[in-house]
Amino acid sequence: MILSIESSCDDSSIAITGIGDFKLHFHKKISQELEHSRYGGVVPELASRLHAEALPKILEEAREFLPHIKAVAVTNEPGLSVTLMEGVMMAKALSMGLGVPLIGVNHLVGHIYSLFIEQKERLPKRVLLVSGGHTMILDVKGYKDMEVLATTLDDSFGESFDKVAKMMGLGYPGGPVIERLAREGDENRFDFPVPLKNSKKLAFSFSGLKNAVRLAIGELKNLSQKDMADIAASFQKAAVTHLLQKSKSVCEKLEPRDFAIVGGASANLYLRDKFEKLCGEKGLGLEFAKMEFCSDNAAMIGRAAIEAYKAGDFIDPKELKVLPKSCFT
Ligand code: KG4
Ligand code: ZN
Repeated sequence: MILSIESSCDDSSIAITGIGDFKLHFHKKISQELEHSRYGGVVPELASRLHAEALPKILEEAREFLPHIKAVAVTNEPGLSVTLMEGVMMAKALSMGLGVPLIGVNHLVGHIYSLFIEQKERLPKRVLLVSGGHTMILDVKGYKDMEVLATTLDDSFGESFDKVAKMMGLGYPGGPVIERLAREGDENRFDFPVPLKNSKKLAFSFSGLKNAVRLAIGELKNLSQKDMADIAASFQKAAVTHLLQKSKSVCEKLEPRDFAIVGGASANLYLRDKFEKLCGEKGLGLEFAKMEFCSDNAAMIGRAAIEAYKAGDFIDPKELKVLPKSCFT
């Protein structure tokens, strides 16, 4: 079994995964959303202190599996340096203490492998990754064989939901709140610009849309519940339309390939519905990670680590570094 640890942002999580059969024997996650909510975003030092409390507690619950552990895996890139460090320190100590190899996992690769938790890998695929830190389309052929086809020029998709929620005083994380509000709103009331609509660039951008929302909020001054719902719905429509348009361009430019959507924001049901329609029209298969594995978790890190284990891709504990900004190896 592999013991995996995730602490790249505000979720402390540990999983135990069977190497041969992919079985998830243990999985626990303690989210810090409540603690960060009143600040309207993740406070790195607070997150790091909460990881230092939560990770040993979760490890204690997984104690019975320790004699069966053949490798320890940990997210070491990208993420917040102070929070990544908490998981990495624990992983190094466990690897040395148990005398088993250490595996460093890229968080984004982890999100991609959230598709294959308790399953065999099914590749190649085009994958749209929508999270709080990233928005990209990748051509994924294997664990170490993936190419970024489009990425964001500024904010990420999830981050834009967080910022719009913050502008309306709705707390953090913004994604689920905006999605919920949008269900009651009129998505055609505000004509927010769909980013890069007339550009051939295969890229994403959310800062212009965010500013358009800011201006609309400024003009309204006192926001009613109806105003907030209409803003949420109109913003969500523009943001998702942007993802759809660029994904469509990628599909049209390159040979057809099945599509998958991963990352915390892939839990958005409006997005899921729109992509189901698009892929249906194009005759492409579409997959999502299970709802419980969309946001950050150690099960996806453990699943990705199985591929590294099979390839013998281990790292000396003295060499494993925290890489906050890295994207892909
Ligand atoms: O993947 P994730 O858990 O963490 C990162 O790797 O960033 O994604 C968290 C992000 C946050 O920005 C959150 O607001 C967004 O995903 N998110 C959503 C939804 N649920 C979470 N965005 C839009 N709609 C949602 N339902
Ligand atoms: Zn993530």
